[in-house]
Amino acid sequence: MAKDMRILLVGAPGSGKGTQAVEIARRFGLTHISSGDLLRKHVADGTATGRAVRDYLKRGDLVPDAIVADILYKPVTAAVARGGYVLDGYPRTVEQAEAAYEVAGEKGTNVQLALHLDVPTKELVRRLLARGRGSDDTEDVIAHRLEVYQEKTVPLLEYYAKRETLVQVNGARPVGEVAWSIAVQLQRVKL
Ligand code: AP5
Ligand code: MG
Repeated sequence: MAKDMRILLVGAPGSGKGTQAVEIARRFGLTHISSGDLLRKHVADGTATGRAVRDYLKRGDLVPDAIVADILYKPVTAAVARGGYVLDGYPRTVEQAEAAYEVAGEKGTNVQLALHLDVPTKELVRRLLARGRGSDDTEDVIAHRLEVYQEKTVPLLEYYAKRETLVQVNGARPVGEVAWSIAVQLQRVKL
């Protein structure tokens, strides 16, 4: 498939969004944009944004919409100009999707296809505890992140399903198998 793809990965913490986003970006020549990575970089760099979001990340709460929208605007616009993106972690609520649509709608930068990485909770917890990324990969914070996912992000799946732009992926298989299955599905759909 030619370039100009705008893909969104939706999945619970530990479902493999980051892992698969890197694969998709490489295979299709897209830019990988991770809201979580960008936020963590702000924290590590000690920027004003980093100081504003640090405690949200630590608790596993979503940071305020305006902050995420602000840090993503430029990278998303630039990625579209380069041929497309694979977004990992944004939008992750219906409100964020609607706001992004408002901004992007007329510019043609909005998501074309959402991929849902489906993984059972037990496996998510196993992966995150094994990874131990930092203060948000502890048992308590993982449990909270999973609650936030259920409450705030699961409705987003319905939002994309209604628009017929949702593709389900069984993410509970080895990394290479999941990547292969995503590539096959992306070749099949007409974007
Ligand atoms: P974010 O960084 O997006 O974290 P997350 O959604 O909790 O997901 P993770 O990054 O932990 O997991 P992943 O799905 O990327 O899986 P990965 O590939 O790493 O967000 C962090 C925080 O930022 C949020 O809590 C919030 O505070 C804030 N935030 C971010 N976006 C926001 C937004 N839009 N609005 C508001 N706030 C926002 O894999 C996990 C582990 O499993 C790795 O060790 C990996 O090697 C392993 N693994 C991956 N695939 C497999 C496989 N198939 N089999 C076995 N192991 C695997
Ligand atoms: Mg990630």
